[in-house]
Amino acid sequence: MRKQTLGEFIIENQKQFRYAEGELSRLVNAIRLAAKVVNHKVNKAGITDIIGESGDLNIQGEEQKKLDVFANETFIKTLSNREIICGIASEEEEDFISVESKTGQYQNKYVVLIDPLDGSSNIDVNVSVGTIFSIYKRLTPSGTPVKLEDFLQKGRNQVAAGYIVYGTSTMLVYSTGNGVNGFTLNPAIGTFYLSHPNISLPKEGNIYSINEGNYNHFSDGIKRYIKYCQKREGNRPHTSRYIGSLVSDFHRNMIKGGVYLYPKTQKNENGKLRLLYECNPIAFLAEQAGGKASDGKQRILDINPTQLHQRVPFFCGSKDMVETIERFMEGS
Ligand code: AHG
Ligand code: MN
Ligand code: MN
Ligand code: MN
Repeated sequence: MRKQTLGEFIIENQKQFRYAEGELSRLVNAIRLAAKVVNHKVNKAGITDIIGESGDLNIQGEEQKKLDVFANETFIKTLSNREIICGIASEEEEDFISVESKTGQYQNKYVVLIDPLDGSSNIDVNVSVGTIFSIYKRLTPSGTPVKLEDFLQKGRNQVAAGYIVYGTSTMLVYSTGNGVNGFTLNPAIGTFYLSHPNISLPKEGNIYSINEGNYNHFSDGIKRYIKYCQKREGNRPHTSRYIGSLVSDFHRNMIKGGVYLYPKTQKNENGKLRLLYECNPIAFLAEQAGGKASDGKQRILDINPTQLHQRVPFFCGSKDMVETIERFMEGS
């Protein structure tokens, strides 16, 4: 059977989009376009001058790669040029950006939060990277410039979220709150096709993904959990897989079953991952696919954000595995 294109899927599923007045469809279309532009650049890395550091530090205190900067500019430009969004916040920008509509009246409904290039440390070595996006309806009244509170919403308010993985093939995976669907790019003709309809995250898994180099800095609960994963018993030892790109690690675990962990360490009290650009959108997708996402104690999507670049410990993937981690963390 001929596979549906992303364009056809968006049109046919207009009805299922919450707040469906066409804007959300146009927003996903704009993301699809920016993804193709970034994909083209990622694919040429190595033969064009796009590998390496840009020479600047971002607000996270990280060395920005040239591709971080390119992806950031591409997504911001592509999303702001259309009459769809009223604001955008990015891992690479210190503050949120207010987007005026052409009438100058801030009529657009949506705000976007974005990790333009996830896994930047993998660019120079030809390993998968990604983009993560999160979409909310603004809270403050239409017609006025957006405020910080429009971006500091609980993850459960997301109207859509998704990611692009620039991997062995390029995929766009997203949800508007009605399950998760994955589309694979045919690079010869630049079209995304529905390749993974209605993705379901296996309830139990066998893969654990964690940077074990930080082992000595983990809490006792996490140390005990790692030992538990390694023990020979039942379906264990689990398999250890860690790419170092959240998008790719999560994508694999969502398809195969598994869990991703980024706990707090002695150095980073709140772990490393950013609540608004990384954890919330991935948590939304995990739940939509039947999985679970937690900071060890509470549901990620229930956290009340207080800062744009806030970090949280993150445990996400197969429901049973996340629940086991929560048990190990009790009291630690
Ligand atoms: P980014 O490249 O957007 O800054 O994100 C990097 C994140 C995430 O993708 C990855 O899982 C994690 O950092 C890896 O961190 P460690 O190198 O500390 O394991
Ligand atoms: Mn970064
Ligand atoms: Mn990231
Ligand atoms: Mn990034």
